[in-house]
Amino acid sequence: MTGSPILEVRGLKVSVAAQPETHIVRGVDLQVNAGEVHALMGPNGSGKSTLASTIAGSPAYKVDEGTILYKGEDITKWRPDERARAGMFLSFQYPTPIPGVTMVNLLRSALQARRGAEVPAREFIAEMRSTLAQLKMDESFARRYVNDGFSGGEKKRAEILQMGMLKPDLAILDETDSGLDVDALRTVAEGVNELKRPDMGILIITHYERILDYIKPDFVHVLVSGRIVRSGDFELAKQIERTGYDPILQELGITRTEEAVAP
Ligand SMILES: Nc1ncnc2c1ncn2[C@@H]1O[C@H](COP(=O)(O)OP(=O)(O)OP(=O)(O)O)[C@@H](O)[C@H]1O
Ligand SMILES: [Mg+2]
Repeated sequence: MTGSPILEVRGLKVSVAAQPETHIVRGVDLQVNAGEVHALMGPNGSGKSTLASTIAGSPAYKVDEGTILYKGEDITKWRPDERARAGMFLSFQYPTPIPGVTMVNLLRSALQARRGAEVPAREFIAEMRSTLAQLKMDESFARRYVNDGFSGGEKKRAEILQMGMLKPDLAILDETDSGLDVDALRTVAEGVNELKRPDMGILIITHYERILDYIKPDFVHVLVSGRIVRSGDFELAKQIERTGYDPILQELGITRTEEAVAP
Protein backbone atom coordinates (compact mmCIF):
# COMPACT_ATOMS: atom_id res chain seq x y z
CA MET A 1 0.00 0.00 0.00
CA THR A 2 1.33 3.40 -0.96
CA GLY A 3 1.27 6.19 1.60
CA SER A 4 0.91 9.88 0.93
CA PRO A 5 3.82 11.68 -0.77
CA ILE A 6 6.50 12.87 1.64
CA LEU A 7 9.04 14.10 -0.90
CA GLU A 8 8.41 15.05 -4.51
CA VAL A 9 11.35 16.29 -6.52
CA ARG A 10 10.28 17.57 -9.93
CA GLY A 11 12.57 18.47 -12.81
CA LEU A 12 15.30 19.55 -10.42
CA LYS A 13 18.40 21.21 -11.85
CA VAL A 14 21.09 22.38 -9.47
CA SER A 15 24.38 24.23 -9.75
CA VAL A 16 27.02 25.26 -7.23
CA ALA A 17 25.91 28.64 -5.86
CA ALA A 18 29.40 30.12 -6.20
CA GLN A 19 29.92 28.74 -9.72
CA PRO A 20 26.75 29.28 -11.75
CA GLU A 21 28.06 27.34 -14.75
CA THR A 22 28.49 24.04 -12.90
CA HIS A 23 25.37 21.99 -13.50
CA ILE A 24 25.55 19.05 -11.15
CA VAL A 25 21.98 17.84 -10.85
CA ARG A 26 20.56 17.94 -14.36
CA GLY A 27 16.88 17.12 -14.16
CA VAL A 28 15.85 14.78 -11.35
CA ASP A 29 12.36 13.49 -10.64
CA LEU A 30 11.92 11.48 -7.49
CA GLN A 31 8.95 10.69 -5.27
CA VAL A 32 9.22 9.14 -1.82
CA ASN A 33 5.93 8.18 -0.19
CA ALA A 34 5.18 7.48 3.45
CA GLY A 35 6.35 4.02 4.45
CA GLU A 36 8.84 3.72 1.59
CA VAL A 37 12.60 3.26 1.65
CA HIS A 38 14.41 4.47 -1.46
CA ALA A 39 18.07 3.80 -2.10
CA LEU A 40 20.09 6.16 -4.28
CA MET A 41 23.23 4.72 -5.82
CA GLY A 42 25.62 5.97 -8.45
CA PRO A 43 29.30 6.43 -9.27
CA ASN A 44 31.48 8.89 -7.35
CA GLY A 45 30.77 12.47 -8.31
CA SER A 46 27.40 11.73 -9.91
CA GLY A 47 25.64 14.29 -7.70
CA LYS A 48 24.11 12.19 -4.90
CA SER A 49 25.32 14.34 -2.01
CA THR A 50 24.51 17.50 -3.96
CA LEU A 51 20.95 16.29 -4.44
CA ALA A 52 20.67 15.44 -0.72
CA SER A 53 22.10 18.81 0.36
CA THR A 54 19.79 20.66 -2.02
CA ILE A 55 16.75 18.84 -0.65
CA ALA A 56 17.90 19.87 2.84
CA GLY A 57 18.28 23.48 1.65
CA SER A 58 22.04 23.96 1.67
CA PRO A 59 22.93 27.52 0.59
CA ALA A 60 25.98 26.09 -1.21
CA TYR A 61 23.67 25.02 -4.04
CA LYS A 62 21.33 26.92 -6.31
CA VAL A 63 18.15 25.46 -7.75
CA ASP A 64 18.13 26.55 -11.39
CA GLU A 65 14.95 24.76 -12.34
CA GLY A 66 12.32 22.53 -10.82
CA THR A 67 10.61 22.22 -7.46
CA ILE A 68 10.92 20.31 -4.22
CA LEU A 69 7.69 19.45 -2.45
CA TYR A 70 7.60 18.20 1.11
CA LYS A 71 4.30 16.75 2.28
CA GLY A 72 2.64 18.47 -0.65
CA GLU A 73 4.08 21.91 0.05
CA ASP A 74 6.57 23.68 -2.22
CA ILE A 75 9.64 24.16 -0.03
CA THR A 76 12.10 25.00 -2.82
CA LYS A 77 12.80 28.39 -1.27
CA TRP A 78 12.66 27.43 2.40
CA ARG A 79 15.70 27.93 4.63
CA PRO A 80 17.44 24.79 5.93
CA ASP A 81 16.30 25.44 9.52
CA GLU A 82 12.69 25.74 8.37
CA ARG A 83 12.98 22.39 6.62
CA ALA A 84 14.55 20.78 9.68
CA ARG A 85 11.78 22.14 11.88
CA ALA A 86 9.22 20.70 9.50
CA GLY A 87 10.72 17.25 10.05
CA MET A 88 13.40 16.78 7.42
CA PHE A 89 16.62 15.13 8.55
CA LEU A 90 19.86 14.84 6.62
CA SER A 91 22.84 12.90 7.87
CA PHE A 92 26.05 13.99 6.24
CA GLN A 93 28.49 11.80 4.38
CA TYR A 94 31.37 13.53 6.18
CA PRO A 95 30.16 14.74 9.60
CA THR A 96 32.16 17.57 11.17
CA PRO A 97 33.59 17.30 14.68
CA ILE A 98 32.35 19.96 17.10
CA PRO A 99 34.83 19.91 20.00
CA GLY A 100 33.36 21.46 23.15
CA VAL A 101 29.78 20.54 22.23
CA THR A 102 28.56 17.27 23.68
CA MET A 103 26.04 15.02 22.00
CA VAL A 104 23.64 15.96 24.82
CA ASN A 105 24.01 19.69 23.98
CA LEU A 106 23.56 19.01 20.29
CA LEU A 107 20.51 16.80 20.77
CA ARG A 108 18.88 19.29 23.12
CA SER A 109 19.30 22.28 20.81
CA ALA A 110 18.29 20.24 17.77
CA LEU A 111 15.16 19.04 19.55
CA GLN A 112 14.30 22.56 20.67
CA ALA A 113 14.76 23.85 17.15
CA ARG A 114 12.57 21.06 15.82
CA ARG A 115 9.82 21.76 18.34
CA GLY A 116 10.22 25.52 18.24
CA ALA A 117 9.98 25.57 22.03
CA GLU A 118 12.09 25.04 25.13
CA VAL A 119 12.28 21.36 26.08
CA PRO A 120 12.37 21.03 29.89
CA ALA A 121 15.56 19.30 31.10
CA ARG A 122 13.70 16.49 32.83
CA GLU A 123 11.62 15.70 29.76
CA PHE A 124 14.65 15.90 27.50
CA ILE A 125 16.69 13.51 29.65
CA ALA A 126 13.83 11.02 29.84
CA GLU A 127 13.47 11.13 26.09
CA MET A 128 17.20 10.78 25.51
CA ARG A 129 17.42 7.81 27.87
CA SER A 130 14.58 6.01 26.19
CA THR A 131 16.07 6.65 22.73
CA LEU A 132 19.49 5.41 23.87
CA ALA A 133 17.84 2.30 25.30
CA GLN A 134 15.80 1.75 22.16
CA LEU A 135 19.00 1.90 20.10
CA LYS A 136 20.99 -0.14 22.63
CA MET A 137 23.50 2.66 23.12
CA ASP A 138 25.42 3.48 26.27
CA GLU A 139 24.66 6.73 28.10
CA SER A 140 28.34 7.63 28.24
CA PHE A 141 28.21 8.06 24.48
CA ALA A 142 25.89 11.05 24.81
CA ARG A 143 28.43 12.83 27.03
CA ARG A 144 31.13 12.82 24.37
CA TYR A 145 31.92 15.78 22.11
CA VAL A 146 30.13 15.58 18.78
CA ASN A 147 32.13 13.51 16.29
CA ASP A 148 35.35 14.45 18.12
CA GLY A 149 37.61 11.45 17.78
CA PHE A 150 34.61 9.31 16.89
CA SER A 151 35.39 6.18 14.93
CA GLY A 152 33.48 5.64 11.71
CA GLY A 153 31.02 3.41 13.54
CA GLU A 154 30.52 5.92 16.35
CA LYS A 155 29.73 8.65 13.82
CA LYS A 156 27.03 6.37 12.49
CA ARG A 157 25.69 5.87 16.01
CA ALA A 158 25.63 9.64 16.54
CA GLU A 159 23.64 10.09 13.37
CA ILE A 160 21.11 7.42 14.26
CA LEU A 161 20.77 8.84 17.76
CA GLN A 162 19.94 12.26 16.32
CA MET A 163 17.41 10.68 14.03
CA GLY A 164 15.88 8.83 17.00
CA MET A 165 15.47 12.03 18.97
CA LEU A 166 14.18 14.19 16.13
CA LYS A 167 11.69 11.67 14.75
CA PRO A 168 11.82 13.07 11.23
CA ASP A 169 9.13 12.51 8.60
CA LEU A 170 11.81 12.41 5.92
CA ALA A 171 15.25 10.99 6.64
CA ILE A 172 18.02 11.32 4.08
CA LEU A 173 21.06 9.28 5.03
CA ASP A 174 24.20 9.95 3.04
CA GLU A 175 26.33 6.98 3.91
CA THR A 176 30.10 6.92 4.13
CA ASP A 177 30.09 3.18 3.88
CA SER A 178 33.70 3.07 2.77
CA GLY A 179 35.85 2.03 5.67
CA LEU A 180 32.95 0.99 7.86
CA ASP A 181 33.07 -2.50 9.22
CA VAL A 182 30.10 -4.77 8.89
CA ASP A 183 28.99 -4.03 12.47
CA ALA A 184 28.87 -0.29 11.80
CA LEU A 185 26.77 -0.90 8.72
CA ARG A 186 24.50 -3.06 10.81
CA THR A 187 24.27 -0.27 13.41
CA VAL A 188 22.87 2.08 10.80
CA ALA A 189 20.61 -0.57 9.38
CA GLU A 190 19.23 -1.78 12.69
CA GLY A 191 18.83 1.81 13.90
CA VAL A 192 16.94 2.79 10.78
CA ASN A 193 14.72 -0.28 11.00
CA GLU A 194 14.05 0.46 14.66
CA LEU A 195 13.17 4.10 13.96
CA LYS A 196 11.25 3.57 10.75
CA ARG A 197 7.59 4.52 10.98
CA PRO A 198 4.78 3.93 8.47
CA ASP A 199 4.26 7.69 8.14
CA MET A 200 7.84 8.52 7.22
CA GLY A 201 9.93 8.32 4.07
CA ILE A 202 13.59 7.29 3.90
CA LEU A 203 16.16 8.03 1.22
CA ILE A 204 19.44 6.22 1.75
CA ILE A 205 22.47 7.04 -0.35
CA THR A 206 24.93 4.21 -0.53
CA HIS A 207 27.65 2.67 -2.66
CA TYR A 208 27.20 -0.88 -1.60
CA GLU A 209 24.37 -3.32 -1.70
CA ARG A 210 25.52 -4.71 1.68
CA ILE A 211 23.64 -2.21 3.82
CA LEU A 212 20.51 -2.83 1.76
CA ASP A 213 20.61 -6.47 2.83
CA TYR A 214 19.54 -5.17 6.24
CA ILE A 215 17.37 -2.21 5.23
CA LYS A 216 15.26 -3.59 2.43
CA PRO A 217 14.67 -0.77 -0.05
CA ASP A 218 11.36 -0.62 -1.89
CA PHE A 219 13.01 1.25 -4.75
CA VAL A 220 16.57 1.65 -5.98
CA HIS A 221 17.66 4.54 -8.21
CA VAL A 222 20.91 5.06 -10.05
CA LEU A 223 22.19 8.59 -10.52
CA VAL A 224 24.72 9.15 -13.29
CA SER A 225 25.96 12.63 -14.25
CA GLY A 226 23.13 14.29 -12.34
CA ARG A 227 20.28 12.25 -13.78
CA ILE A 228 18.41 9.20 -12.55
CA VAL A 229 19.14 6.76 -15.33
CA ARG A 230 17.71 3.58 -13.81
CA SER A 231 15.05 2.83 -11.23
CA GLY A 232 14.10 -0.58 -10.00
CA ASP A 233 13.83 -2.74 -6.94
CA PHE A 234 16.42 -4.42 -4.77
CA GLU A 235 17.47 -6.55 -7.73
CA LEU A 236 18.98 -3.44 -9.36
CA ALA A 237 21.28 -2.94 -6.35
CA LYS A 238 22.33 -6.59 -6.51
CA GLN A 239 23.05 -6.28 -10.20
CA ILE A 240 25.27 -3.24 -9.56
CA GLU A 241 27.11 -5.15 -6.84
CA ARG A 242 27.85 -7.88 -9.37
CA THR A 243 28.74 -5.83 -12.42
CA GLY A 244 29.55 -2.30 -11.23
CA TYR A 245 28.22 0.65 -13.23
CA ASP A 246 30.02 -0.19 -16.47
CA PRO A 247 27.13 -1.95 -18.23
CA ILE A 248 24.80 0.96 -17.41
CA LEU A 249 27.37 3.54 -18.54
CA GLN A 250 27.98 1.60 -21.73
CA GLU A 251 24.28 1.41 -22.52
CA LEU A 252 24.10 5.16 -22.03
CA GLY A 253 27.17 5.69 -24.20
CA ILE A 254 29.01 7.42 -21.36
CA THR A 255 32.74 6.87 -21.27
CA ARG A 256 34.19 6.13 -17.91
CA THR A 257 36.02 9.18 -16.57
CA GLU A 258 37.86 9.89 -13.35
CA GLU A 259 34.61 11.33 -11.98
CA ALA A 260 32.45 8.41 -13.03
CA VAL A 261 34.29 5.49 -11.55
CA ALA A 262 32.30 2.93 -9.66
CA PRO A 263 33.71 2.11 -6.22
N1 LIG B 1 30.38 23.08 -3.42
C1 LIG B 1 30.90 22.59 -4.55
N2 LIG B 1 31.78 23.30 -5.27
C2 LIG B 1 32.30 22.80 -6.42
N3 LIG B 1 31.99 21.60 -6.93
C3 LIG B 1 31.11 20.85 -6.25
C4 LIG B 1 30.53 21.29 -5.02
N4 LIG B 1 29.70 20.34 -4.57
C5 LIG B 1 29.78 19.34 -5.46
N5 LIG B 1 30.60 19.64 -6.46
C6 LIG B 1 30.95 18.77 -7.59
O1 LIG B 1 29.78 18.15 -8.07
C7 LIG B 1 30.01 16.80 -8.43
C8 LIG B 1 29.08 15.89 -7.65
O2 LIG B 1 29.47 15.88 -6.29
P1 LIG B 1 28.68 15.05 -5.18
O3 LIG B 1 29.40 15.25 -3.91
O4 LIG B 1 27.25 15.44 -5.23
O5 LIG B 1 28.84 13.57 -5.72
P2 LIG B 1 28.44 12.18 -5.05
O6 LIG B 1 27.57 11.47 -6.04
O7 LIG B 1 27.90 12.40 -3.70
O8 LIG B 1 29.85 11.44 -4.99
P3 LIG B 1 30.42 10.36 -3.92
O9 LIG B 1 29.88 9.04 -4.36
O10 LIG B 1 31.89 10.43 -4.12
O11 LIG B 1 29.99 10.76 -2.56
C9 LIG B 1 31.49 16.55 -8.16
O12 LIG B 1 32.20 16.73 -9.35
C10 LIG B 1 31.85 17.64 -7.16
O13 LIG B 1 33.21 18.02 -7.24
MG1 LIG C 1 28.53 11.90 -1.83
